[in-house]
Amino acid sequence: MKGVILAGGTGSRLFPSTKVTNKHLLPIFNRPMIYYPIETLKRSGIRDILIVTGAEHAGDFMALLGSGSDFGVNFTYRIQDGSGGIAQALGLAEDFSAGESIGVILSDNIFEEDFSEDVYYFDHGAQIFVKEVEDAARFGVVEIDEDGTVKSIEEKPAMPKSNLAQTGFYLYDNQVFNFIRTLEPSKRGELEITDVNKIYLEKKLLRAAEVNGMWIDAGTHESLLEASILAQEAFDPDRLRARRPDLAKAKFTRHVPKVTVGVITHNSEKYIEPCLNSLLAQDYDNLEIIVLDSASSDHSIDILEEKFPDIKLIESQENIGFARSHNEILRQTQGDFYACVNVDMIFEPNFISQLVKSIDQKPIFGSSGGKVKRWDFEAFEKSLKGAREMGKTNFIDSAGLRILRSHRFEDIGQGEVDYGQYDHPRQIFGASGAAVLYRRKALEDVAFQNEDHEKEYFDESMFMYKEDVDLAYRLQWAGWKAHYTPYATCYHDRSATAFGRSTLSILKNRAKKPKLINRLSYLNHHILLEKNFSDEYSGKIRSATFWYNFKVFLYILIFETELLSEWWKYFKMRSQIKARKRAMPRRVSKAEIEKLMES
Ligand code: DAU
Repeated sequence: MKGVILAGGTGSRLFPSTKVTNKHLLPIFNRPMIYYPIETLKRSGIRDILIVTGAEHAGDFMALLGSGSDFGVNFTYRIQDGSGGIAQALGLAEDFSAGESIGVILSDNIFEEDFSEDVYYFDHGAQIFVKEVEDAARFGVVEIDEDGTVKSIEEKPAMPKSNLAQTGFYLYDNQVFNFIRTLEPSKRGELEITDVNKIYLEKKLLRAAEVNGMWIDAGTHESLLEASILAQEAFDPDRLRARRPDLAKAKFTRHVPKVTVGVITHNSEKYIEPCLNSLLAQDYDNLEIIVLDSASSDHSIDILEEKFPDIKLIESQENIGFARSHNEILRQTQGDFYACVNVDMIFEPNFISQLVKSIDQKPIFGSSGGKVKRWDFEAFEKSLKGAREMGKTNFIDSAGLRILRSHRFEDIGQGEVDYGQYDHPRQIFGASGAAVLYRRKALEDVAFQNEDHEKEYFDESMFMYKEDVDLAYRLQWAGWKAHYTPYATCYHDRSATAFGRSTLSILKNRAKKPKLINRLSYLNHHILLEKNFSDEYSGKIRSATFWYNFKVFLYILIFETELLSEWWKYFKMRSQIKARKRAMPRRVSKAEIEKLMES
């Protein structure tokens, strides 16, 4: 993505300070105003930047900023004759953009925010960034419904419909230049950026995200002064608290969403202590931990009662499996997010906070997974308990789930040495159920109502295994994206797995696994295909899936005939599975789902 800084206009609201210079060369605290938008774009990962300004002071900008090498970026300059409006200035960036998407910032907008993820994920259409203000009539005003969908946008309305201001940072795809060509000047004789955004809105291509950090438009005398004070105080929060406790409160205290962590134990005595201790050590403020014990016959219950009396324990007399256990916890809790974690794991202290941070303000994400690494449990047991390394290895266990065209599902990076190859946040098909954070709203959206009128988030017809894949698939159909963040790390004891994608390693893996796992995986694979596979997928998906299933069937026919009885169970369940398939929300096209599939 390329960047555009708009630094033209007359700066008439700051007269006489702007009589002989450009507004964006005036100082804000300890540097010229234009330094701030440069830093914002740089923080967002944008390095190739066009500066648009008027002819009178263009030389001053070049003298001040040069080629960009001092800032670690590349500057190109363009002259705007007159001041025909923000959209007119932006129109001058068409050649520079060379067909790419652009991140546009108004030069008098000072942000504390890091937009790097929005920039990274931006794909098409337009994205605006809004902030709650007291004096909305000074800005473009945006009306948003409960789902975060933009309903209307108006430039400086006398009667604002909301208190959400459109800030001066925008992401556009390259159609923006076609739209600018169709604009007529507004009453004040300018081509308005708000009119550009209205075109995107009419075409249902406009999205809005909220700005959390400090934002100020420094275009008036009062806001210029306030920007200087805030810029100074941004480096010194104590000073801000002393002088402006109201602002400090808004800046440093945020609504902290509630996270429920659900852990299932079933004869897990050796794992309970390290797992729960690492969860109790989380740096996240609003966390509840619930353990459901599924009919353990070892000392699990004793350990839980004696060592963790403050953790809520739900006891089940029968072994109810993964899906039902987590559903049971979900039905009894209300948290904004649900962290579904395995007990054979340990978590870095910022694991939950990083997962929440990665999707909290990005409502399109229904789940987030972190970097799961291998936990050498034997080494942990042999080491002094509480030792710092605790058996943590540098092997990847999962950097998310990927879906192949054949409908095989794999843990990304499994068995690889972690040399930083998965250190970039990105979208994934889904996250491994061993450690994943779900947005409650997304879970409610895809939940089934079962015969007993209870909600099933995970599908309980899948006792255990692959229910996480099924949920990931259903979330995708409903339009909920999945996120991977490398900043949330945890360690998983999964010793009985052979590495590799070759047929031989897959077979070795199967042979090592207990028979029950192979049986359940086989049955559940077909349940999830029945619900999620679309007969309208393209030929390459249909044939890859057919041949993969056919090969597995042949293998079973020769080596694992006992699995054939799973087909009987499958046929008995078929009408129930079909009813669930019909109840699934499907808001995205099959083409969009196909895009997720790798060869
Ligand atoms: O700051 C956010 C607001 O910025 C938005 O809420 C409004 O929707 C948007 O129209 C804009 O309103 P302002 O009244 O603050 O726009 P202003 O005329 O101050 O222009 C903002 C910047 O855009 C200015 O610092 C330089 C650049 N600009 C402006 C004009 C009119 C140009 O580069 N060329 C121009 O012709």
